[in-house]
Amino acid sequence: MTASRRRALLLTAAGLLLGAGLAMARDLPRLPGPLALKRGADSPGQVIFHHGSHVDETRPACLSCHPGRFSMLGASQAGKRPAITHERMSAGRDCGACHGKEAFGLDDCTSCHAE
Ligand code: HEC
Ligand code: HEC
Ligand code: HEC
Repeated sequence: MTASRRRALLLTAAGLLLGAGLAMARDLPRLPGPLALKRGADSPGQVIFHHGSHVDETRPACLSCHPGRFSMLGASQAGKRPAITHERMSAGRDCGACHGKEAFGLDDCTSCHAE
């Protein structure tokens, strides 16, 4: 094989890889829209969870939350997982894995609960 023929093949291979990468990025599942979380008895207001503010779309990572912390299966999981409570969050579970640590704290009620 001549050097130029080899270079042409390498370029084609690189082009195919790039194309596949772009196609994969385009085929990523679309993130769910705003999710109204089920309210506990004394909840001071509806909490809406936004994937958009929690997922970097250029480097989507779902494993920091799914499936360990939260189910991806939506309504079919209702009642199968323990409800999100402040007792759990204060112990670093659910939203409390980050809020009160690298994200704003649990004392900031209206950042999560609608007024
Ligand atoms: C910061 C945490 C977090 C990250 C990161 C995250 N999710 Fe979620 N996701 C949630 C929470 C909270 C729920 C709601 C769980 C519930 O209702 O019990 C949810 C629910 C879902 C649902 C179910 C939607 C419905 O209709 O109930 C899907 C699908 C989903 N996530 C997909 C994804 C995908 C895909 C990614 C990665 C690109 C992702 N999530 C990353 C927190 C996260
Ligand atoms: C993996 C870490 C992580 C988890 C788990 C997580 N968050 Fe966040 N959240 C963040 C970070 C980081 C921000 C960016 C704001 C900041 O730095 O304070 C944020 C921002 C927010 C915001 C402000 C932006 C917006 O969407 O309105 C709300 C509200 C919020 N989170 C609610 C929640 C709730 C409710 C849960 C649990 C169902 C949750 N988060 C779980 C890391 C997390
Ligand atoms: C990081 C987001 C976040 C912040 C900040 C936050 N909450 Fe919550 N809270 C939730 C989520 C998620 C739930 C579960 C859904 C529901 O019950 O509305 C919840 C549930 C509750 C509940 C019912 C369950 C339980 O643990 O008793 C009460 C009461 C409550 N919150 C009060 C507060 C008060 C008061 C503040 C401020 C001091 C506050 N929350 C701040 C996310 C938050």
